Amino acid sequence: MTPKVLEAINRQIAAEFGASFSYLAMAGWCEHHKFMGAGRWLRLQSAEEHGHAMRLFDFVLARNHVVRISAMSEPKAEFASIVEVFEKALAQEQEVSAQIDALYELAFEEKVFAAMAELQWFITEQVEEEKTVREIVAKFHMVKDDAASLLDLDRELGGRQGAGEGSGT
Ligand SMILES: [Fe+2]
Ligand SMILES: [Fe+2]
Repeated sequence: MTPKVLEAINRQIAAEFGASFSYLAMAGWCEHHKFMGAGRWLRLQSAEEHGHAMRLFDFVLARNHVVRISAMSEPKAEFASIVEVFEKALAQEQEVSAQIDALYELAFEEKVFAAMAELQWFITEQVEEEKTVREIVAKFHMVKDDAASLLDLDRELGGRQGAGEGSGT
């Protein structure tokens, strides 16, 4: 691995941990406001982002390099509404997609083929995550301030299965 790619992957590890903390802060806001289903969904997403960071952490170690975790900024914890929480989540995912694309481009330029192979998983994952969050944002826009529909949507989000739970789908 070249120093440039190593540095960029180390930065991405911090970005994935940052996303994990950001989702955790969002979960805290939702649960404080008694959207317990959304809180569960966001806690699980936080754990997924932790998994992404660890995936890159393990990749750096497998390539026999030193992992460096840089400082992360404090995540946003105040929101005006639940729809704002998920709009922020979508913006965050779009930002991460752009980071992964830039990282892939760098690995390509530097001819670090192992990193390109590793990053392909992340490119596919970002497509899925953006799609999922975009659909949730659209649903919140549909229900607007209708309390009964909001509660239904919150219940639906709470049905998210964690890794290793249920039928394993
Ligand atoms: Fe991620
Ligand atoms: Fe993500």
